Amino acid sequence: MKKQCLSNTISIILLTVGFIVIQKVAYGQSFDEDGHTHYVEHDTIVSHKLIFPSKTPDRVIANLTVDPAHSFAVNWRTNQQMDSGIVAFALATDGPEFLLRDVRKVEAVSQEFENQNSREPLVKATFHSAVVSDLQPNTTYVYRVGNGSEEDAYWSEWYQITTAHADLDAPFSFIYFGDAQNNVKSMWSRVIRNSYRQFPEVDFMLHAGDLINDRDANMEWGEWFHAGSFIHATIPSIMTPGNHEYRDGVLSSLWRPQFTLPENGPITDLKETCYAIDYQNMKLISIDAEGFDESMEARTAQVKWLDSVLRTNTKKWTTITMHYPIFSTAKGRDNKELREAFKPLMDKYDVDLVLQGHDHTYSRGYLKNEGKGLTVVKDAGTVYAVSVSGPKMYESQDREWMVRRGEYTQLFQIITVTKNTITYGAYTPIGTLYDAFELKKKKGKKKLMNKVPNTPVRLKKDFLKKE
Ligand SMILES: [Fe+2]
Repeated sequence: MKKQCLSNTISIILLTVGFIVIQKVAYGQSFDEDGHTHYVEHDTIVSHKLIFPSKTPDRVIANLTVDPAHSFAVNWRTNQQMDSGIVAFALATDGPEFLLRDVRKVEAVSQEFENQNSREPLVKATFHSAVVSDLQPNTTYVYRVGNGSEEDAYWSEWYQITTAHADLDAPFSFIYFGDAQNNVKSMWSRVIRNSYRQFPEVDFMLHAGDLINDRDANMEWGEWFHAGSFIHATIPSIMTPGNHEYRDGVLSSLWRPQFTLPENGPITDLKETCYAIDYQNMKLISIDAEGFDESMEARTAQVKWLDSVLRTNTKKWTTITMHYPIFSTAKGRDNKELREAFKPLMDKYDVDLVLQGHDHTYSRGYLKNEGKGLTVVKDAGTVYAVSVSGPKMYESQDREWMVRRGEYTQLFQIITVTKNTITYGAYTPIGTLYDAFELKKKKGKKKLMNKVPNTPVRLKKDFLKKE
């Protein structure tokens, strides 16, 4: 008996090793000083897991819905042996007794999916998507995803997630990330993990595009999910696509299977890329900036749609995220058409925050700044921020609207919203505060207080070896 067990074990080990060797086709990415990407081969078990699904759920991610006080969306991936999926959820309890109580189930929409980019093997998967609804506001739930079987092996662990408050003025917080994009597993992991470690009570996370570099690279998406791990399943996210989620005018085939984002944008082509969410007293809007660039229909539709969303907006605060900046910070870049299309609406409706990416630098400011360096500014108008969370870095240009800029600095921004105040802090992965301000709004009057730390501006040239 023992001999048979041993021989079975040896067979399994040999088969597994053989399989991994056969699958020696996983790729990762690297980039040079100028930001050009090139690919390096991996043949490790980790790479294999990042690309290929199994019967056990992976890439589990919660997304905000249009009603975040009463629902959340969840997506995950399995191999094609699993053709259906279930979310089990219950009110969280102090101990395991939730298992004995009312565990409810929601059936997912499951779709078979396969894709291959030029540098990767064919990947076949089933993507599962569900919206868990009829929840109570400001309540913590446990949930897990799987195939509905009795075997724990085919389920995820139980995650905890908390719904938004029904009280519109209750405080909430979110973390905003600029581009992760490159070397996501090796160098972005510490950013998202330390953002969560520093501020675990965060209510949701916002990604301003270019989450990865190559829209259909399974390895890169695998790295993004690996970096965030259980955080993606615990803290709901929203994301806006960047130019790297697109190629040749086509959105990543993985975007919609992997995420469940609102479908309340203007046209079908912008489903889950251009949308609006009411989170308590804040209107959150994603503009698909690459879609804007690619098609005249997407351009005019978004401008018209944004005008109508802002015109009927009853929320106290308004935040827009889009990948391309209204005011570019990187040298030699300018998105004139985007600015001419959207800035008049931002001015007209006095949008509070515009959170952007793409330029691989940091800048934050407002037009009234005019290089004056004031601490307190009345009627500052819209505050624009461009940030970067991954390691790819460009040089920036100093402009009068900027209050604080930086280069060669990976950052995440913690934004806390209370009844009358938005508090914004930009932090490095080691927790150093790099920029901060407060925005106060009372009876329609807005006042901005700059709280920039008294530390030198970080510039790329200071960190590179001089020849
Ligand atoms: Fe970009």
